[in-house]
Amino acid sequence: MKVSIVKSIPDKTDLFVVPVADGNERGGAVRELPAEVREAVERRVQQTGYRAKSGKTLVVQTNAGDVVLAGLGTSRDAESYRRAVAAARPAAAAVRANTVAVVLGGNARHSTAVLEGFVLSGYRFSKYRSSEDDPYDGPEEAALVVPAAAVRKARAETARVQTISEAVFLARDLVNEMSSVKTPSFLAKTARTLAREAGLRCEVWQGERLRKERMNGILAVSAGSREPGALIRLHYTPKRRARARIAVVGKGITFDSGGLSLKPAKSMEWMKQDMSGAAAVLGVMKGVAALGLPVEVRGYLAAAENMPGGGAQKPGDVIRLRNGKTAEVLNTDAEGRLVLADALCLAAEDEPDAIIDLATLTGACMVALGVRVAGIMGNDQTLVNTLLRHGRETGERLWQLPLVEDYVEDIRSKVADIKNIGDGWGGTITAALFLRAFVGEANWAHIDIAGPAFAEKPTPLVSSGGTGFGVRLLLSYLSSL
Ligand code: BES
Ligand code: MN
Ligand code: ZN
Repeated sequence: MKVSIVKSIPDKTDLFVVPVADGNERGGAVRELPAEVREAVERRVQQTGYRAKSGKTLVVQTNAGDVVLAGLGTSRDAESYRRAVAAARPAAAAVRANTVAVVLGGNARHSTAVLEGFVLSGYRFSKYRSSEDDPYDGPEEAALVVPAAAVRKARAETARVQTISEAVFLARDLVNEMSSVKTPSFLAKTARTLAREAGLRCEVWQGERLRKERMNGILAVSAGSREPGALIRLHYTPKRRARARIAVVGKGITFDSGGLSLKPAKSMEWMKQDMSGAAAVLGVMKGVAALGLPVEVRGYLAAAENMPGGGAQKPGDVIRLRNGKTAEVLNTDAEGRLVLADALCLAAEDEPDAIIDLATLTGACMVALGVRVAGIMGNDQTLVNTLLRHGRETGERLWQLPLVEDYVEDIRSKVADIKNIGDGWGGTITAALFLRAFVGEANWAHIDIAGPAFAEKPTPLVSSGGTGFGVRLLLSYLSSL
């Protein structure tokens, strides 16, 4: 889709998209439509009693072009613009619009959000369909109409939004790919290709190298699988002097069967998504390089397939993780923390200013926060606060859970330094406390994306499947440094 920024309403377009606020259905940007169109819209609003609730649309056919009013609801933050414009997509499909013009009126400060909403909602994963339900693939051209004074800024933002969306789509594609294709070796290959294209350094440790490097969490989880695990490290260095050095770490379980602590069938259905953290890290690295941000960023992917094969680790086994701490593995389904422990140790050794990990770590986090909000915990409240703010700005919502010191008791082991499950309650917190034991002195935040990484039901910006959650959040954070 070609996107252009224009300062006056085009003479001809297949569809006008007009975001409107609840209670102001005939005001705002509607006033800027050509007179004939405007009158038709006003009549239709009157007839239908349309209220511009968030995500609710009204389609109006006129002789001079079709119009879709896109409800903002009562709030006018960036997210309501993203959602309103995304909700207008089905209307574009219904009229087979080749060209659309989004009319923003005086709300030009939301041009970025509007672009994001439109571009992000256009994603489809159709690799495994022999034919599409609907061959229409969105408009070929979108024009965003903003006041003359806002054109320059909006043009600059267009390229940025498209770059960031490419990064989100990389993450979504990887999450949506099936597990029998996207093995740890496949992730390694994808990382190498990305590195070559984007000018990043890339290292892959597998087999003997993992052993030499004491990455025993990755090895233990991989032991029940025919697929070798991998630690993948990507490194971006800016041309200018770096303003900060940040590590991003992703859980990359390419399929989580639970291992010998096997999951029931229902719980396994969507476990191809268990590498969403790693997918987001790849997306972030792609985005950071394409944007040329003035920060040094290392991305670490802890990749393994968790299977119950003959060599699998067994409940009761004790493993020695990279920093020398021993962990009693009582449940092989609590595997994410084992692979992340090694990766976090390695990230801490590289002495960054901050470490941020993304992981589909616990079902408990979905119980607590549902599927639209990620949990965040950390040992550095300033870092957590900053990420919470970027969560609000990007619409990738985070909610902080406390690292309750008392619960350290729950992961104390009788035979090793630590055990990999708690006593059943507060599972998101005990998982985070486990991770904390491997970050040393580093400033660290952990984001549990078990809920929002994958959409079983459509969400405003994704029809279904992998969401790429975390990519926009972290690119927003990294861009602010
Ligand atoms: N990958 C799962 C967590 C998960 C569940 C992610 C649902 C996305 C959707 C994780 O490895 C896991 O199995 N966690 C266990 C931990 C338990 C054994 C302590 C869980 O949440 O049940
Ligand atoms: Mn698991
Ligand atoms: Zn898992």
